Amino acid sequence: MGRVALVTGGSRGIGEAISKKLKADGYTVAATYAGNDEKAAAFTEATGIKTYKWNVADYESSKAGIAQVEADLGPIEVVVANAGITRDAPFHKMTPEQWHEVIDTNLTGVFNTIHPVWPGMRERKFGRIIVISSINGQKGQFAQVNYAATKAGDLGIVKSLAQEGARAGITANAVCPGYIATEMVMAIPEKVRESIIAGIPVGRLGEPEEIARCVAFLASDDAGFISGSTISANGAQFFV
Ligand code: CAA
Ligand code: NAP
Repeated sequence: MGRVALVTGGSRGIGEAISKKLKADGYTVAATYAGNDEKAAAFTEATGIKTYKWNVADYESSKAGIAQVEADLGPIEVVVANAGITRDAPFHKMTPEQWHEVIDTNLTGVFNTIHPVWPGMRERKFGRIIVISSINGQKGQFAQVNYAATKAGDLGIVKSLAQEGARAGITANAVCPGYIATEMVMAIPEKVRESIIAGIPVGRLGEPEEIARCVAFLASDDAGFISGSTISANGAQFFV
């Protein structure tokens, strides 16, 4: 049995590609999701990867879900905090509900995912934390004050955890995808999406598998000296 890897939002989109890649690389993978039971069941049927349902925005549910994963599969050594949502609106139209929903899921959800596994990683002196941030956390984005704030926050989380985890053999890194062909991007109005694609120098959206390969590298033993870093995979759309 390989190392146990937890992928939140691991049943579809980028998370699905990450779950499959980690399984192919020999990890025992647990994939979580929020509510799309049909997709999760189809994913498990197709991949044999176990799925778990909880809301990452809720600390107690995350803690209980993680305890269940560890009881089923063993100690979690790799965490991929991938679950995320958008609630886009220009700032003057953004509601407090849209603000809080995104903060609770994308930012507090990352805390809720990492915090319960952290003590075990410290004790065992090994861990890999990988947070899926975004190009829009690096550059900001029209209509994404809420989302960009969470994704920039992810970078602060991994830089801080990298320092706290260093002596315990734990690395913490972020991947900042550009625009990737998933349902999240397909939800953007078509005309707007076309203009976004026109602004990507490689002339296309990224594929989820292109992000999964970055995650697999950061999870591997080869990446042991990399911590507090960000891999940008965005088709040359933005440079830090
Ligand atoms: N830059 C400058 N101006 C813009 C703009 C932009 N990027 N986008 C829209 N505007 C302008 C519009 O042209 C419009 O101008 P006028 O009032 O002069 O006509 C004005 O802003 C307001 O636009 P709307 O009235 O159309 O705004 P709306 O309330 O209907 O909201 C929207 C529309 C939500 C902004 C929609 O355009 C949208 O979804 N945009 C995409 C935002 C985006 O890129 N989200 C990323 C989602 S994918 C993701 O998040 C993954 C990731 O990490 C990369
Ligand atoms: P997606 O296709 O919409 O999939 C989102 C996944 O997250 C689903 O499995 C969903 O579960 C789960 N999820 C959502 N809210 C949750 C919650 N509260 N609790 C638990 N799970 C939850 O999204 P994606 O495009 O793959 O994006 C994945 C991550 O990459 C996100 O963090 C996103 O911000 C980031 N990202 C995406 C892009 C892009 O262009 N697509 C670019 C940069 C960064 P259900 O299936 O049950 O809904």
